[in-house]
Amino acid sequence: MRWSWFLLSLLAVAAMAEDSSEEEDFLPLAEECDPETCRLPECRCSSTSIPGNLSPRNTPQFVMVTFDDAVNIINIQTYREVLYGRTNINDCPVGATFYVSHEYTNYQLVNELYNSGFEIALHSISHRTPQTWWQNATVEDMKLEFADQRLQMQQFGNIPRDAIRGLRKPFLQLSGNSTFQMMKESGITYDCSWPTISFIDPGMWPYTLDHASTQDCPIGPCPSASIPGTWVVPMISWRDLQNTPCSMADSCFFTPPLNDEDGWFRFIVGNFERHYLGNRAPFGFFVHEWYINNNPAIRRAFIRFLDMINNLHDVFMVNTNDVVEWVKNPVPVNEYARQQCRRPAHTQCFPSSCGPLSAPHTETSYWMTVCGTCPRNYPWVGNPLGN
Ligand SMILES: *[C@@H]1O[C@H](CO)[C@@H](O)[C@H](O)[C@H]1NC(C)=O
Ligand SMILES: *[C@@H]1O[C@H](CO)[C@@H](O)[C@H](O)[C@H]1NC(C)=O
Ligand SMILES: [Zn+2]
Repeated sequence: MRWSWFLLSLLAVAAMAEDSSEEEDFLPLAEECDPETCRLPECRCSSTSIPGNLSPRNTPQFVMVTFDDAVNIINIQTYREVLYGRTNINDCPVGATFYVSHEYTNYQLVNELYNSGFEIALHSISHRTPQTWWQNATVEDMKLEFADQRLQMQQFGNIPRDAIRGLRKPFLQLSGNSTFQMMKESGITYDCSWPTISFIDPGMWPYTLDHASTQDCPIGPCPSASIPGTWVVPMISWRDLQNTPCSMADSCFFTPPLNDEDGWFRFIVGNFERHYLGNRAPFGFFVHEWYINNNPAIRRAFIRFLDMINNLHDVFMVNTNDVVEWVKNPVPVNEYARQQCRRPAHTQCFPSSCGPLSAPHTETSYWMTVCGTCPRNYPWVGNPLGN
């Protein structure tokens, strides 16, 4: 008798737990956005109109250079040579954003990038295949891949939790509401994974998901719930020489010959000018390091492009998060140029070389370099600190 009461109450508790998790999962459908009620700094409708109703002439042209995947002793050479020591026309150090994936990443070097003023953002712990896994990923999956990755950055890279603001999904594969819901619950501000091919000219500015997005959805499912306060930084596609859109510079198909420096310089500038001479939506140079490392002519063209924009009085190469901050509180270009530079970061790294470390998902053992003390196992999904 008592035993069955006990069982019954257990069942009741289980049913309640299920109810509350269902409630958590239910999100209101996003409704049409009204710019009269959705206002900066918290809210912005998806739109090609310039924040703050500035004229293009008075709008800073932001350039977002981003690199994806693991940071290691090979690609850091390129980052040092191409990015370090560069300044914008107002003498502030340039920015760039690194969407770092965990596997094979050297955290001493991530710490170096962070302390050199660049933004460290999330690109998942596993970067697993197949791509379709990311398409169906749940909120819990996304917590294990991204929210937990932020713990790794803090523990192994000595990067303050608050400095990590953004993410990019592997393969740019969206998963409906789940990534944004995870972002909201974990305090991650923006996503930069969502390409647009319909809002290229004029380009779509960053916006929030309080209300329904009008952005096209090339790699769906896209979110349709209202998820207030989460920001989308659209990846405005380039156009290749046949006008085919490409979301990353290294995914363009009809490009100039890979050894044609002048052709590539003109190709990059042509894409840039669509923004600069248009509504000045942030211009993305989204690329993987191997592409410019394997193609010396493209690398030289890229450097020429950076030298050019670093000498224009209304162009600023910045961290992606700086763009979101400007959109929240837009100021005219003259005022922007006079603002104080971003405060330099200052976190020390006493490196340890760790290994061999074993991981649950493979027979291979790993070596990794971290700031501070070594983990006991190779950090992985579900055990981000390698306990
Ligand atoms: C996102 O949430 C909305 C509102 O709850 C829902 O209608 C939609 O089906 C969800 N999208 C996906 C892909 O689950
Ligand atoms: C993901 O979901 C879609 C339907 O939304 C389904 O067709 C597909 O098979 C699923 N993929 C995986 C890997 O489960
Ligand atoms: Zn990647």
